Amino acid sequence: MNDVIVQMKNIVKIYPDGTVALRGVDFEVRKGEIHGLLGENGAGKTTLMKILSGLLRPTSGEIYIAGKKVSFKSASEALKHGIGMVHQHLALVPAFTAYENIVLGLPGREASREKIEKLMEETGLKVPLDALVEDLPFGVRQRIEIIKMLYRNVDILILDEPTTNLTPIETKELFHTLKELKKRGKTIIFITHKLREVLEVTDRITVLRRGRVVGRTETAKATPEMLAKMMVGREVVMKIEKKPAKPGEPVLIVKDLWVKNDLGEWAVKGLSFAVYSGEIFGIAGVEGNGQTELVEAITGLRRVEKGQVILMGKDVTNRSPSELYRLGLSHIPEDRHKLGLVLDMTVSENSILGIHRLKKFLGSLLNLKWRVIDKHAREIIEKFEIVAPGTRAPARSLSGGNQQKLVVGRELSKSPQVIVAAQPTRGLDVAATEYIRKLLIKMRDKGKAVLLVSADLDEILQLSDRMAVMYEGEFMGIAKPEELTEERIGLMMGGYKMEQISAGTKPQPAASS
Ligand SMILES: Nc1ncnc2c1ncn2[C@@H]1O[C@H](COP(=O)(O)OP(=O)(O)OP(=O)(O)O)[C@@H](O)[C@H]1O
Ligand SMILES: [Mg+2]
Repeated sequence: MNDVIVQMKNIVKIYPDGTVALRGVDFEVRKGEIHGLLGENGAGKTTLMKILSGLLRPTSGEIYIAGKKVSFKSASEALKHGIGMVHQHLALVPAFTAYENIVLGLPGREASREKIEKLMEETGLKVPLDALVEDLPFGVRQRIEIIKMLYRNVDILILDEPTTNLTPIETKELFHTLKELKKRGKTIIFITHKLREVLEVTDRITVLRRGRVVGRTETAKATPEMLAKMMVGREVVMKIEKKPAKPGEPVLIVKDLWVKNDLGEWAVKGLSFAVYSGEIFGIAGVEGNGQTELVEAITGLRRVEKGQVILMGKDVTNRSPSELYRLGLSHIPEDRHKLGLVLDMTVSENSILGIHRLKKFLGSLLNLKWRVIDKHAREIIEKFEIVAPGTRAPARSLSGGNQQKLVVGRELSKSPQVIVAAQPTRGLDVAATEYIRKLLIKMRDKGKAVLLVSADLDEILQLSDRMAVMYEGEFMGIAKPEELTEERIGLMMGGYKMEQISAGTKPQPAASS
């Protein structure tokens, strides 16, 4: 159990644009362990693992696999040594079936349905082999990627933030799989920001900060506080203080809203609610229960079939996003690659997306004032502690978390009245998460209305003044977080209405239905 299988020595990585991502990292993994790799956004985790899996060459440093020195020129060379990586943005072909994706690129004689079925049987990793990948939920797609790696005899499996897009149930299933694979002698490297997960599933942990290793520990000896402190270099407040809300007027009203999903089915079924100025209204629920469609309908990105959206007293149903913005609505989108950023554009260009027509950015002849825009971008970079080479660097060169901070920074710099925040801290490290959560509370204290949609139940419970649980396009109930137990929320997430639960467990006097 104690033999070292991966040894990376003094790894330095300087990207072509001069960014020093790794400054001499020593990293060791033992055979058959689950090793957690932690670190704040931009710490170098993905870079280090891309080097191990042959996707990037280190600027200097050495790699030993099972004691033998190696130097990979490509991912397929690393694969020959039994190393495979599952990326955060999965690389499957959507129009192919699961089976086709698994055997993709293998010579015909190595493609065996039987062997795949046996592998699925043994590992408990089951996927419908003949289904098209595009029709499958994210968690199943991820399983296909893992099977694909195992089918190629990968012994060292690297997972880059695998739980970011998973529902709580899918996460549980993934952890079960990881433990199974470990029993079979596989070695797993697991990148995450979620301390709870790293404590639950790993054996040992390495922490990176700004391209250096700042800590190594056995998981059994670690606490969340200690890991957070290692990652950030200071104490992190894990619990956020907030004053009681002082709600004012209802500034966002949704009335009997009906919205369809991409398949033309009803995703939002007659929802009605109001969000008041000075409050955070949270929507919890397992993803895929209409939250995305609801947010898109409110922010002008998806057609409202029936019902109304009223913003600051004005009917804005089916208005365009730019009109809504002018009326005081900001949107932190859940998919920052689809809606939040244009990756090939610079940080500066991205910092004014959607607001480039503002007077302060326009000169005479309507040309853009780049000096002012760069200053605006620099302010966002400073305020949100974004790690970026500069304002003229492409957004693509920022780490995932720093891209998210850029979107949030831009949206909140618009000084909106109503903020629709969808998964605002997804993929963010503890410090950035703390910062953004505090900022949302600050916005609320300034009298803004915040509609928060998050798959992270802790986040909803911590931030919301009132919360709803959404299930199949409807609310199962609206309450203050302190009025709900985790068990009740769990039942609501599974489709029980609040009245039903109250009636079943302890009768509530005012229950009516
Ligand atoms: N292709 C690239 N060109 C230039 N710099 C890059 C490139 N990719 C990453 N970087 C920079 O290298 C550093 C490390 O990035 P990396 O993606 O490895 O961080 P990370 O720890 O995975 O962060 P996150 O948790 O946000 O995913 C960051 O400063 C990032 O901006
Ligand atoms: Mg990363």
